[in-house]
Amino acid sequence: MWPFSKKGVSGFSWSSTAEQVTHGIDASGFTAIVTGASSGIGVETTRVLALHGVHVIMAIRNIAAARDVKEAILKEIPSAKIDVMELDLSSMASVKKFASEFISSGLPLNILINNAGVMACPFMLSKDNIEQQFATNHLENST
Ligand SMILES: NC(=O)c1ccc[n+]([C@@H]2O[C@H](COP(=O)([O-])OP(=O)(O)OC[C@H]3O[C@@H](n4cnc5c(N)ncnc54)[C@H](OP(=O)(O)O)[C@@H]3O)[C@@H](O)[C@H]2O)c1
Repeated sequence: MWPFSKKGVSGFSWSSTAEQVTHGIDASGFTAIVTGASSGIGVETTRVLALHGVHVIMAIRNIAAARDVKEAILKEIPSAKIDVMELDLSSMASVKKFASEFISSGLPLNILINNAGVMACPFMLSKDNIEQQFATNHLENST
């Protein structure tokens, strides 16, 4: 048997999908911020949260890509509540602007998914002159 499909005490395995894990949950009235929601795991996280009624704020740096993702999810889930807000985690100014705009929206923050990240990228500095991977994955995500 493929070892990743062996179930743990939760009843789920490494191969369980987000839909399987959240089956039956009604999260209407909740608001979530998902960083890096324009690709990969962030897209699926956004889709499945929206499927369960969560108002999802896609916190992304590529507005065009995020709008495409939002449209695709709305096609599948017409009732999905999704907003797109710009966030570049390699810039502290962008992080502060995002936080300020989110606070001004008056929305509660029930779920925060710090998904955005980079890995093993070539050496470069962030807009604040900090090594890019450390800045993106650790500093700005925790601000
Ligand atoms: N997939 C795996 O097997 C795996 C394993 C271990 C850990 N992870 C971690 O899980 C997370 C998601 O993985 P994934 O495979 O879905 O990665 P992915 O497809 O590369 O997506 C990463 C997301 O992070 C965003 N991002 C990167 N730098 C950013 C910045 N400075 N500001 C704002 N957003 C930024 C990207 O936006 P752009 O599209 O604008 O670049 C993208 O939307 C990552 O943190 C990754 O390190 C993944």
